[in-house]
Amino acid sequence: MHNNYIKNTILNRPTTFTNGEQASTYTANKIAELIRQKQKEGKPAVLGLATGNTPKLVYKELIRLHREEDLSFHNVVSFNLDEYYPIGTDHHLSYTYFMAEQLFNHVDIKKQNVHVPHSDFSQDRIAQFCIEYEQKIACFGGLDIQLLGIGRNGHIGFNEPGSDFDSKTRLVNLHPLTREDAAPEFGELHDVPHQAISIGIHTIMQAKNILLLALGERKSEIMSKALHGEITNQVPASILQTMPHVEYVLDNEAARLI
Ligand code: F6R
Repeated sequence: MHNNYIKNTILNRPTTFTNGEQASTYTANKIAELIRQKQKEGKPAVLGLATGNTPKLVYKELIRLHREEDLSFHNVVSFNLDEYYPIGTDHHLSYTYFMAEQLFNHVDIKKQNVHVPHSDFSQDRIAQFCIEYEQKIACFGGLDIQLLGIGRNGHIGFNEPGSDFDSKTRLVNLHPLTREDAAPEFGELHDVPHQAISIGIHTIMQAKNILLLALGERKSEIMSKALHGEITNQVPASILQTMPHVEYVLDNEAARLI
C-alpha cells in the first residue's frame, strides 16, 4: 500500500531505559510535571490513561509521588482509553476496577473527574454514550497527555488492525490476538469479551502530547514495525510516526530490534 504520510524519523527516536522500572519512573515524572505545571497555571490537567500490565509501575510511582512528594491530583481530569463490552463496573477485570485499584483509590483525584467508558448497558445506548465521551473530552479542551501501551498486533487503545485513522470513540470487535493475550487473566479464552468500547485513533492523535510506553521482549517485534515499518492501519500505532508530539519510552528489551 502506498500512502502520502510523512514520517518524523528524527523526532520519533525512542527514549530507552535499562529496565521497566526506570522507564516507568521517567513516564510518571513526565505526567507529574504536567500536573504540577497545570496547577501553577490554575488549570485542569486532562490525562488520557491506559490499563494493562504496562502502566502498572507508572501508577505505583504516581502514588508514591502523591504520598511522599506532595503531588496532588485535585486538578486532574482523567479519561481512560477503553473498556471491555459488556462488563460490569464492579467486575474485578473491568478497567473501572483496575483503575480504582491501581491508582484512583490511592490519590486525591475527585470522583467526578474520573471517566472510564461504561459498558454495562445495552447496545442501543452505546452510540450516544460514545458521542458524549468525545464531547466531554472536548469540553475540557482535549487531552493534555495520552499515555499508551501497545498491543502485540500494534493496537493502541482497542483500535485493532484495520481501524480507521480518523476513528472516534465507538464499539469495536477485539482481535483474536488481543483476546488470546487477555485469556490468562480471564481464566479461559471463552470468557474474554469479544467487544470493547475504545476511544478512536483520531481522538488519540488529537492529544497535545502522547507517551507510548512499551516494556519487555514480547513488544520488541511490534515496536520495530510501529517505529520503522510502513504506515498502515494494519499496524495502528504506525500512524504515530507522522506526529511530532509522540514520545516512545521503551526498556532495552522492547527496544532490542530498533
Ligand atoms: C489498555 C489498552 C491496550 C493496552 C495494550 C497493551 O487500556 O488500551 O492498548 O495498552 O493491549 O497491554 P499490556 O500493557 O497488558 O501489554
